[in-house]
Amino acid sequence: MPSTVDVGNIDEPEDVSTLVKKVVKSGKPERTKNLRSSYEGGFSDSYIEKLPAPARRRFEKAGIDLSHGYPERPPSEKIPIFLDEAVAIRNEEFPYTERGKNADPGKKALIGAAKEVRHLTKHIGTEIVGLQLSDLNDKQKDELALLIAERVVVFFRDQDLSPQKQLELGEYWGTVEKHAQQVHVPGFHGITVIWPDLFQKLGLNTSFKNSLGTGTSNWHTDLTHELQPPGITHLHNDTIPEVGGDTIWASGYAAYDKLSPAFQQFLEGKIAVYISAHQYINRESPLSGKQNIEREHPIIRTHPATGWKSLFVNRSMTRRIVGLKKEESDRILEYLFGVFEKNLDIQVRFNWKPTKEGVGTSALWDNRVSQHFAVWDFEGKEPRHGTRVSSLAEVPYFDPNSKSQREALGLSLE
Ligand SMILES: [Fe+2]
Repeated sequence: MPSTVDVGNIDEPEDVSTLVKKVVKSGKPERTKNLRSSYEGGFSDSYIEKLPAPARRRFEKAGIDLSHGYPERPPSEKIPIFLDEAVAIRNEEFPYTERGKNADPGKKALIGAAKEVRHLTKHIGTEIVGLQLSDLNDKQKDELALLIAERVVVFFRDQDLSPQKQLELGEYWGTVEKHAQQVHVPGFHGITVIWPDLFQKLGLNTSFKNSLGTGTSNWHTDLTHELQPPGITHLHNDTIPEVGGDTIWASGYAAYDKLSPAFQQFLEGKIAVYISAHQYINRESPLSGKQNIEREHPIIRTHPATGWKSLFVNRSMTRRIVGLKKEESDRILEYLFGVFEKNLDIQVRFNWKPTKEGVGTSALWDNRVSQHFAVWDFEGKEPRHGTRVSSLAEVPYFDPNSKSQREALGLSLE
């Protein structure tokens, strides 16, 4: 890395962008390790020697080329540095087909083929036993999309699932998200690597005392800064700690039903600002610090398959409610975050352990109607590794004629 920077001719205003780019790429000003790695593409962060054995076996069986290193990032020249470059990546609406919409409401093809369908709690979370995701036909995939929409998250243990098959499933349910800078499986930009060991190497400072709010150990919904945030999101964990490493999900439908009718009415039609996890430089004010991508979405949204209303806020990514004073917005959001976080009856906590050796576990959640939290109790002392495929869905909308889940199911609204 050079100790000085060739900044070119700084007298010409059109050179400012180039100058900032050069400064950022050359190592100045001081940056976190995390940011440094974000701008270096390809296999610069290779951590192949740490790849857990079960993940390696899965990749080798699937013919994934690990010879250049692991994992891969998009090439450096494709990683955006400026905010406008990052926003431009998916700034136009694209078509989306809701697969759950035309599924058989009884889900006979899916349920009939399973050994067991087990609801893990009353309001959220179902485990399907005795089915391989890789064997599902289109009818079953449609029915699974509806089941995920209704139950918020659906689990499959003991899965022999290649990354390619996981990607194929994701492509059936929507346009697969390709992250601007996140690490992915070599050769497959749409398969994001979720690997705490690597995140720690990149500067994520997580410890027992400081586990809350770092990495994925915070309440969040994925990719809410997207114009069309993900619907079905599929994390397949091929390497799971012996004890712990659980994930918790909370239901947005149930969170909505927890609110009083007057408060529900106040929130309906309100818009909030959602931010990206990653930050970029504003070309107009390059020295004012990094900024998140911001996107507006309705706070209460309607799910296109179930037609149910859902509360769409989360502590990590919802910044403010449009039209309210900051102190009003802060207090209301804090209350709403608490509805998800404190009501244990609208959460499910899942341990990923398969019942057999050499296979992994899949969780498929509807990111439109949920938030989740990865529990850091294993403290990074045991490997945890997985691959995530996110299927981007519709532009979020609120249908004033839609019903709440409890209203639609004829449950008590008290
Ligand atoms: Fe997440």
